[in-house]
Amino acid sequence: MCGIIGVLGSHEVAPLLVESLKRLEYRGYDSAGIATVNDGRLDRRRAVGKLVNLSDLLVHEPLLGKSGIGHTRWATHGAATTHNAHPHRSGPVAVVHNGIIENFRELRAELAEAGIHPETDTDTETVALLTRLHMDRGLPPREAAVAALRQLEGAFALLWLFDGEPDLMVAARRGSPLAIGYGAGEMYVGSDAIALAPMTDQITYLDEGDYAFITRAGAEIFDAEGRRANRDRQQIDTGAVTVEKAGYKHFMAKEIAEQPAVLGDALRHYLRPDGSLNLPEELDFSGLDRLTLVACGTAYYACAVAKYWFESLARLPVEIDVASEFRYREPPLPAKSWALFVSQSGETADTLAALRYCAERVEKTVAVINVPSSTMAREADLALPIHAGVEVGVASTKAFTCQLLTLAVLALKAGRDRGVLSEADLAAHADALRALPGLMNTALGLSDDIARLAESLAEAQDVLFLGRGPLYPLALEGALKLKEISYIHAEGYASGELKHGPIALIERSVPVIVFAPHDRLFDKTVSNMQEVMARHGQVLLVSDAKGLQAAEQGTWARLKLPEVAEPFAPILYALPAQLIAYHTACAKGTDVDQPRNLAKSVTVE
Ligand code: F6R
Repeated sequence: MCGIIGVLGSHEVAPLLVESLKRLEYRGYDSAGIATVNDGRLDRRRAVGKLVNLSDLLVHEPLLGKSGIGHTRWATHGAATTHNAHPHRSGPVAVVHNGIIENFRELRAELAEAGIHPETDTDTETVALLTRLHMDRGLPPREAAVAALRQLEGAFALLWLFDGEPDLMVAARRGSPLAIGYGAGEMYVGSDAIALAPMTDQITYLDEGDYAFITRAGAEIFDAEGRRANRDRQQIDTGAVTVEKAGYKHFMAKEIAEQPAVLGDALRHYLRPDGSLNLPEELDFSGLDRLTLVACGTAYYACAVAKYWFESLARLPVEIDVASEFRYREPPLPAKSWALFVSQSGETADTLAALRYCAERVEKTVAVINVPSSTMAREADLALPIHAGVEVGVASTKAFTCQLLTLAVLALKAGRDRGVLSEADLAAHADALRALPGLMNTALGLSDDIARLAESLAEAQDVLFLGRGPLYPLALEGALKLKEISYIHAEGYASGELKHGPIALIERSVPVIVFAPHDRLFDKTVSNMQEVMARHGQVLLVSDAKGLQAAEQGTWARLKLPEVAEPFAPILYALPAQLIAYHTACAKGTDVDQPRNLAKSVTVE
């Protein structure tokens, strides 16, 4: 959360900073700000809300200078006000920050003893105040920043800029990612390669605990102990980080529509033309006693679906948990087990902490990620990319289906390794996966029908989603999607659980969306649906031709999907779930790509 950028340029940097912040806005959009050094003097501009407010401000109050830092905020400490917006400044020091300074209260007490008092509600300001204190006591800027850094506890990425120092930035990474970029006589620092993509494809990622002194001549990098460190410079594929809406109204719409194509890419990567699985040799599931799956949010629901697959296709016991719970309950883990972490960004703080917890306790850690250069990809024993391409919409769509596909392929591998699936079974499942992009194209054709239904759904205060088996986690995901972008209260339930409590909520004004392919559990789900309709519940049934024929009577509305091989139905049914949320949000006029209070990359716990 929060995006940071720094540029030591050869021209005016304000436009570059704003352009980079645009690419980082997915990390938070509560406020934005930039600071520059112009004629040796530090100055800043900050605005609350979306980046566009900062751009407007800069039209009226431009900020000159060839070196600068910028920030887009997802508020943690202190309300989203201009006052609390970054860069934070104390005298000759300006700081931008992503993460949390956990001991900022103790540090404030120390500062108070020196007669220095904060002017904002943020933890970040403490860093500027401390650095200034060290400078007042005689340390030069670099040493002052490092002295302040040594006093900080927490997980963060930081960038300093100084009055009178137009050729210096200090950068530090502890817990939150930071990339240094190299240009011709210019240097850059950013939260990720996406921010730097228009300026450079030459990137060095700081390691955990590193700090760096950056001038136009290059970067001097030091490790946590203060020793000079050599970090690899990599060439990043900037083609893979283009962020355009390509004619769509929203990134989310584009990303939903891209799913047949990206799923096809992922399939080509993991399934060879002869039907065999293209996975690293070392992934041999045969001797495992247990697999632990850990993630947050939508990625967690992908794990919840995968649990059904690993158990049914590979007879492999699976434990799943949300990362924020897993990391603190210190679960015992069998030695003959692997732990698998699913994360679009590969940076989610809780999931990363869970990975680190498992690193010494299990045989193998595997990261299923969308960003190959992410911290999880680098720290896990093995990283498997999901090949979704850059996902900009804050609500995850194509990353979810590509996570599911990657997990499905892993479950098939496990089934084969453990002797549960024969070659013929494997070939049949591989064919079923290959059929998915075509089926998804058909599902996308429901978009107009869903847009019409969404006019009514947008009136609802509460919506329930039901599903059974692997469609149960999809019900949870459908509810999450609707909540996060339309702000309508929604809950997902296992169909069979309804009568154990939630059925009390049923009344005419509560739409109930039922995901029920005509599978072996269909009749059971339909019985639960009848219970809803008997209580005047308005059911939207999402099923296939057979299912609709068998059960559509009495429903409020229905959506027909093509038939799909039973285990993989959640991958196809994800599309109507996403389109329902998308069109309902559009009908309500909410901010689809940047819903309130959310951020795409959650690097604080
Ligand atoms: C919801 C959504 C979030 C993320 C969660 C984990 O649409 O996108 O629930 O799935 O924050 O993020 P990653 O996958 O980056 O670890």
